[in-house]
Amino acid sequence: MIKFAVKSILSNMGYDILRKDHFNILWPHNLIGFDGEEEARSGIRKVRDHTMVAYASLVSLWQQIRFCEEHGLAGDYVECGVWKGGSIGLMALANLAYGATPRRIHLFDAFDDICEPDPEVDGERAVAEIEKFTGRDRASITGKLTPVEGIYDHMGGPGQLPEVKQFLEQRVGYDPAHLIYHKGWFQDTLPVADISEIAVLRLDGDWYASTKVCLDHLYDKVVPGGFVIIDDYGCYDGCRKAVDEFLAKCGQMPFLNHVNRDCRYWIKPW
Ligand SMILES: C[S@@+](CC[C@H](N)C(=O)[O-])C[C@H]1O[C@@H](n2cnc3c(N)ncnc32)[C@H](O)[C@@H]1O
Repeated sequence: MIKFAVKSILSNMGYDILRKDHFNILWPHNLIGFDGEEEARSGIRKVRDHTMVAYASLVSLWQQIRFCEEHGLAGDYVECGVWKGGSIGLMALANLAYGATPRRIHLFDAFDDICEPDPEVDGERAVAEIEKFTGRDRASITGKLTPVEGIYDHMGGPGQLPEVKQFLEQRVGYDPAHLIYHKGWFQDTLPVADISEIAVLRLDGDWYASTKVCLDHLYDKVVPGGFVIIDDYGCYDGCRKAVDEFLAKCGQMPFLNHVNRDCRYWIKPW
């Protein structure tokens, strides 16, 4: 009663009382107010410990897959940069919840520690994170296509293929016949990947080179009306540069929808 009275007085004065973790970007205590958030949240709960993606981006991803299923948008689901498989797991769960049939889901990843950023294009934040999490000297980081050992140790290590398979097949319950794994550097696996149409393309490879190579090989396959999601647009300079350059070269500048500080998406124009 007292709590209600205090809340109501403060509310009339234009203030809300919220729990401290309300704005926790990974798992806010309260609903934020997205359409269909309760359903999305039940999916996110199942994958939360296998993803580093922020809550708002995951809810948005759930809504996008739901839209594709409910409106019959053709094409496969693709993620480049899978780590432990959490965002892919959410796509699979949304397909199971709203789709009549399973989709082909493609997973592109080294299934190892991420490659080096190029300090010239990827920027200070990328280099500072490597220094912080691995103790490496910044002069040794030059954009080589070799794993930055230890970069994910503070989060339980790199995603590993057997662990990701087990998670998707056993916990998520997706038919393994529809899961296509492309293990290796994107630069090697994308040119030989067999994909014809993509409904949702989710890019989460952090760096300039990793983002550029995905757009170069996969963007043409996205169906008109399909979703292109860039997890790190607002996070790393190189990722943003790769996207901006690519869209300028295509002569397209679709509106980039803002999901949160880092993530943007657009709908492929007709
Ligand atoms: C930020 S994590 C992905 C997070 C994931 N989507 C999730 O749900 O938590 C980035 C992943 O991309 C992979 N990666 C980045 N660049 C790559 C490249 N050029 N080739 C292969 N894998 C790459 C890293 O090894 C890492 O597993």
